[in-house]
Amino acid sequence: MARLESKVVLISGGASGIGAATARLVVCEGGKAVIADRDEEKGRLLARELGASGLFLPLDVTQEPAWQKAVAGTIDTFGGLHGLLNAAGIGTRTDIESCTLAEYRRVNDINALGTFLGCKAAVAAMKQSGGGSIVNISSVLGLRGAPYAMAYCASKGAVRLLTKHVALHCAQMKYNIRCNSVHPGYIDTPMIAPRLDQAVGNMSGRQWLEELHPLGRLGRAEEVASMILFLLSDESSFSTGAEFVCDGGLTA
Ligand code: NAI
Repeated sequence: MARLESKVVLISGGASGIGAATARLVVCEGGKAVIADRDEEKGRLLARELGASGLFLPLDVTQEPAWQKAVAGTIDTFGGLHGLLNAAGIGTRTDIESCTLAEYRRVNDINALGTFLGCKAAVAAMKQSGGGSIVNISSVLGLRGAPYAMAYCASKGAVRLLTKHVALHCAQMKYNIRCNSVHPGYIDTPMIAPRLDQAVGNMSGRQWLEELHPLGRLGRAEEVASMILFLLSDESSFSTGAEFVCDGGLTA
């Protein structure tokens, strides 16, 4: 039997990178994937590739009514909601002295507040579907700091502890909803593309990032998607409120 047979999974940020790799894997494993993203062109293209098991819905994760529409659209089309992946996010380089209030808010609105709104909308819907699994993408930079990523670290640290709250609340309420966070190292997706060509000393950006990982390379979106698939499926039925690291040994 396929690992996600008859499960409906909504994926914010599903048009690109880790979200898109997860959407493909969900469908391969017998599930339905709803690609919810602000990038309509890429999102619709991927949904077409996935055929009858895929759907694109426009979503700006910072807007609460947009989340309600996306969840309602998912249930209208596929009859329920069993999984949510909060993958929408942006990267940015900031430090405590130069970061503006506007930039801090932009990063935290998408990465942290967007994840909060996603969890809130999903918990309400999953209660009606008999339970589900929420996966929030944090980062290794939600586990430790970095001198070049102040606003990003703050947003991803918030995702890490928001996840534990959602897990504990749902357990206490006996909703049968699990919630876990995933902490990738540097993954070769469009998000980090601008950094790959920026030299660091006498190294290319790519070499510098590769050497941060004891495995000596960047991760692939599909490698993170495999971990997410496990968390979305019933194979992870005793895991909730936990941190799942996928970082080539970076934090070891
Ligand atoms: P990506 O740039 O390939 O994909 C991000 C997607 O989020 C895009 O499709 C984009 O349109 C969407 N998005 C951005 N803002 C949005 C908004 N307001 N509303 C709806 N959609 C929005 O990036 P990637 O690498 O796939 O990132 C996925 C998640 O993984 C992000 O949360 C990122 O912070 C996290 N992550 C990525 C790492 C990496 O090295 N690529 C490392 C650690 C974490």
